[in-house]
Amino acid sequence: MLRTSTLSALVFLLPVLTRAAQPLYGQCGGVGYSGDTTCVSGATCTVLNTYFSQCLPGAATSTVPNTTPNPTTPTTPTTVTQGPTTTLSTVAPNPTWTGAPPAVSGNPYTGYTVYLSPYYAAEVDAAAALISDPTLKAKALKVKDIPTFTWFDVIAKTPDLGKYLADASAKAQASGQKYLVQIVVYDLPDRDCAAYASNGEFAIANGGEANYKRYVDQLVAEIKKYPDIRIVAVIEPDSLANLVTNLNVSKCSGAQNAYKNGVIYALEQMSSVGVYSYVDAGHAGWLGWPANLTPAAKLFADIYKAAGSSPFIKGLATNVANYNALSASSPDPVTQGNQNTDELKFINAFAPALRSNGFPAQFIVDQGRSGRQNIRDQWGDWCNVKGAGFGMHPTTNTGSSLIDAIVWVKPGGECDGTSDTSAPRYDTHCGLADAHKPAPEAGTWFQDYFVELVRNANPAL
Ligand code: BGC
Repeated sequence: MLRTSTLSALVFLLPVLTRAAQPLYGQCGGVGYSGDTTCVSGATCTVLNTYFSQCLPGAATSTVPNTTPNPTTPTTPTTVTQGPTTTLSTVAPNPTWTGAPPAVSGNPYTGYTVYLSPYYAAEVDAAAALISDPTLKAKALKVKDIPTFTWFDVIAKTPDLGKYLADASAKAQASGQKYLVQIVVYDLPDRDCAAYASNGEFAIANGGEANYKRYVDQLVAEIKKYPDIRIVAVIEPDSLANLVTNLNVSKCSGAQNAYKNGVIYALEQMSSVGVYSYVDAGHAGWLGWPANLTPAAKLFADIYKAAGSSPFIKGLATNVANYNALSASSPDPVTQGNQNTDELKFINAFAPALRSNGFPAQFIVDQGRSGRQNIRDQWGDWCNVKGAGFGMHPTTNTGSSLIDAIVWVKPGGECDGTSDTSAPRYDTHCGLADAHKPAPEAGTWFQDYFVELVRNANPAL
C-alpha cells in the first residue's frame, strides 16, 4: 500500500507529467491511449489510423481531438492533418473526365518518371535530422530520392491522393516528362484477418463493405481530376493470400466474400479510370509452396476474370513488405523444403499456372527491405525483422520478361507492428526473438529500424 505522503507527491506530479509534449514520432492519440495529445514544437499530432496518432514533422493545419474512436464505427474525419506537411506544387484539376486512354499492352513503367512520395520524403528528412553521424545521415537522405509507394490505409487519407497528383501534374508540365504515381489500396473491411498488427478501420459486421466502396470511390474521384498522370496500384496486401492459406482462421473465412467483392470492386473501379493494377500475391514463402501454387493460381485468375479481365489489371505484386531476395545466390536456410527459394523462382513457377487459368499476369516485386538475407529464424517471420537492409533499387531492368519492375512498396522505416503486448493490435510475431523491439504501431515511424535499414543497405547507399 502506498503511504499518504507518496500519494500526495504523485497527485502533485501528475499535472506536470501530463503537460509534457510528446516527442517527434511519439504517440499522441488513438484507441486505448490516454496520454498527452500535444507534440513538441515543429511536430503535429496526426491521425494515422484509429489506433494511433503520432507526432509527425510539420506545422499543424488543425489539431487532433483527444478522442479514442471506436474502431468498428469509422467516421470520415474532415479535420485531421494527413502526415508530414510538405509544400506541394499544384495545377488546376481537370474539369471534366473524358474517359481513360486505352491500356498499353507492355510495361506501364516504360517511358515514365516515377513520382517521389512527399509524405515519405518528409519522414526521411525528419529521421535524418535525428542522425548525428554525418556519413550515416548523408546515406539516410539518399533514401528520399528512391521511389516508394504511398499507402492509403485509412479513408481519411484519400484527399491526399489529389494533392500528390496535382503536384505530379505540375512537375510533369514543368519538366516535359510523363509522371507515374505509385499507390497501395489498403482498407478492406476486417483487414489483416490472420494477424493483428494491421487490423483496419472497417468491420464487415458494421457496414464494412459499403465503407470500402466509399473509400475506393473517393480514390477514383481524385484520380479523375488528373488524367495526365499514370498510376500504378498495388491492391490489398495479404488479402487474397489469406484466402488461400488461412481459411481455418475464422476472421478470414468470415471475410472471404467481403475480400473477394472488395478486390473485384477495386480492380473494376481502378481499371475504369486507367489505373494499372497489380494484386498482392504474398511471396515465395507463402504462396510459393507447391501445395499453395495451384489453388492460388485459380483464385487470382477467378478474381481477374470476375473483374472483367481488364488490360489494366497487369498482374501481381509479390514480396510486399517482406524480405525475400529476388534471386538468392544460395538458398536461405529457412526456405528448406520449398524449391521456390526466392521471388524469381516463385514467379517462374506461378506465372504458367496463372496463364493456364486464363490470367496472363506480369509481376512487380518489392525489394525495399531485401538487401540482407539469412536474417530470419522462420520463413514466416514478417514483423520488423532484425538485421534487414534496404535492397535493390527500383528498376525496369529486371532480367525477367515476367517482371515489369523491381519496386519499393513498403516504405522502409514505417513499422510492421507494435511490440507492446498490451496494445489491441499486438501480434506475437512482433515479439519474436528476430523482431526488432521496442516497436511502435504498424505504419508509424520506427526510427531505430530505419537506421538499421540504412546501415545494412545492399547495395550500400
Ligand atoms: C500498416 C499501414 C501502413 C503500411 C505501410 C502496414 O503494415 O498497417 O498502416 O500504411 O504498413 O507502412
